[in-house]
Amino acid sequence: MILAGSESAVIEQAARTIAAGDLVAFPTETVYGLGADAGSDPAVAKIFAAKGRPSDHPLIVHVADMWALPLFAAEVPEFALRLIKAFWPGPLTIILPRREGVATAAAGGHPTIGLRCPAHPVAHALLRTCAQLQPPVRGIAAPSANKFGRVSPTTAEHVQQEFGDTLLVLDGGPCHVGIESSIVDCSRGAPVLLRPGTLTREQLETACGQPLLQPDGLPDPAPRASGTLESHYAPTARVRLMDAQALQTALDVLGAEASDIAIYSRVILQSRSAKVLRRRMPDDAQETARQLFAVLREFDAHGVRLIWVETPPDTPQWEGVRDRLRRAAAG
Ligand code: TXA
Ligand code: MG
Repeated sequence: MILAGSESAVIEQAARTIAAGDLVAFPTETVYGLGADAGSDPAVAKIFAAKGRPSDHPLIVHVADMWALPLFAAEVPEFALRLIKAFWPGPLTIILPRREGVATAAAGGHPTIGLRCPAHPVAHALLRTCAQLQPPVRGIAAPSANKFGRVSPTTAEHVQQEFGDTLLVLDGGPCHVGIESSIVDCSRGAPVLLRPGTLTREQLETACGQPLLQPDGLPDPAPRASGTLESHYAPTARVRLMDAQALQTALDVLGAEASDIAIYSRVILQSRSAKVLRRRMPDDAQETARQLFAVLREFDAHGVRLIWVETPPDTPQWEGVRDRLRRAAAG
């Protein structure tokens, strides 16, 4: 059931649903989340069951403000605090050592916890209302509201397509960031960028005052986590990344025979077939992030077999979009 998410009666209903141990999908500025009371292991188990996600893949716990940090985190290093002060509320998730015995299922049993304070007004109202209940719900565990491995939802309708009409979905309109939050692991003594988002590496490094390490070379790897799997965020059609010239050559070779292909490119390509679906990729990385998942879903809805995407520019602004497309293409 989709409900306009900004009315207080609706927020109240959603908060009570979460407090009762059930699931609610809600908008954030990045993507829609599938939420449950982070403090209730049985409620969190419903998320894993609904998504079909392995229960050792940790979830992000969403909080109303930074004052909730000590409820979940055992310690907050100085560089993490700087990141939090710079970017919360916003599209940044911080991994911290977890307080023992807290949000165990949400953390997938790992000794760390991912925390994020989202900026979307509906998410914020929901988190505040939950925190004011008696007894309070101080954190909402929420992965992206899609089935395991699929493209994240950026509208309430996308969520409903994934889970059907029985799920309560708060509608906050289309997400304006469009790809998932940047994740910085702050539990290892130095910051490690686990998942790029729309905040650039430079913005993050300036805020925390030190370079971000890459997860690859670390002595003990981060837990296996969905967003960092090689193949993820995949539509049903096969995705291929090519430069503009390779795309044009491929279309020329197929000529009038080309069909069941969708193209997402910045340059305008010529095709002799009317059965090639084309969408223009914006020149701006933020704008592309905003529409990327909706475009992939739209191509799938047309039933194309192949999605050919022009490789995005190799600049820092495009790191998040490049990452999602690379994973979609690995599917
Ligand atoms: O923008 C977002 O982050 C969205 C919205 C709903 O907040 N959420 C999201 O959740 O993308 P999800 O579950 O699809 O991806 C969260 C990722 C996990 O796949 C994992 O990579 C990482 O967060 N994560 C969470 N807790 C972690 C932990 N303790 N250690 C390492 N990685 C963790
Ligand atoms: Mg996800």
